[in-house]
Amino acid sequence: MLALYVILVLLAYGLDQIFTGRAAFLHLGAVTATIMSFNVLMIIIPNQRIVVADLKAGRTPDAKYGKIAKVRSTHNNYLTLPVIFFMLSNHYPLAHSTDYSWIIAALVFLMGVSIRHYFNSNHARKGSPRWTWGVTIALFLAIMALSLAPLFSHKSYDEPALSELSLTEQQIKLAQSPHYEDVRDVVLGRCSMCHASEPFYDGVRWPPKGVMLETDSQILRQAHVIVTQSGLSHAMPPANVSYMEDEERQLLIRWYNSSFANGKS
Ligand code: HEC
Repeated sequence: MLALYVILVLLAYGLDQIFTGRAAFLHLGAVTATIMSFNVLMIIIPNQRIVVADLKAGRTPDAKYGKIAKVRSTHNNYLTLPVIFFMLSNHYPLAHSTDYSWIIAALVFLMGVSIRHYFNSNHARKGSPRWTWGVTIALFLAIMALSLAPLFSHKSYDEPALSELSLTEQQIKLAQSPHYEDVRDVVLGRCSMCHASEPFYDGVRWPPKGVMLETDSQILRQAHVIVTQSGLSHAMPPANVSYMEDEERQLLIRWYNSSFANGKS
């Protein structure tokens, strides 16, 4: 059980390094669900078949099969609630979109155990271990604290002045492109209300994912992600809240392509 927990936490940490919290949680849910399914398909059912076959043949089944199956079904029992949480977690930005999402995931797995332990004991008529409520509440408060932590920290989003940064050859081309002036207007008009060191879009308190799009240097150095998020896909602005036109998305693509030697401008 402990080994499984360590594996899941390592996985949460690893996924968090590669993906956004939102995607990491979904993957974690999918992996957990796969583990649970394989526990049933590869361990619990085959062991039960062996036991049934032994009984039918009049042999006394080896108790080890039952024990192994019991361990795996306990794993599944403890994972039931977390797996549902992770599979639905896209709806909970307060859990996944924080700096500590993998720690939150680790605590959610523990809550799965503490909540189930109460009901398991209760159903087995082994009393009502009320202390599990205390543990669950403490875990939940810890998750809330981690989730809200950014509200109380003052991250600084200052960046070195443009003069201190050297632009790559491609970025210089992007700056010199005849489209650049229009591109800058589009980005300032459609993106920087959120993507600013001090965003003024209601409810956005810091630049989402630290992406700031206010200065020439920021726009030029992030040309690639601007084009992938808003030109090639419609991921940004979210739900097109700032009414970006298709023509503007095309402009971003033309601008980006024009920076390649053989670019179609
Ligand atoms: C209403 C606020 C808002 C507006 C307007 C907006 N964004 Fe975003 N942007 C967000 C949020 C929120 C995220 C973080 C999404 C997440 O955590 O998955 C984000 C993330 C991003 C990212 C990082 C994506 C990643 O997964 O690494 C880029 C790049 C980006 N936005 C570019 C843009 C561009 C370009 C525009 C304008 C065309 C724009 N955004 C407009 C809110 C906004």
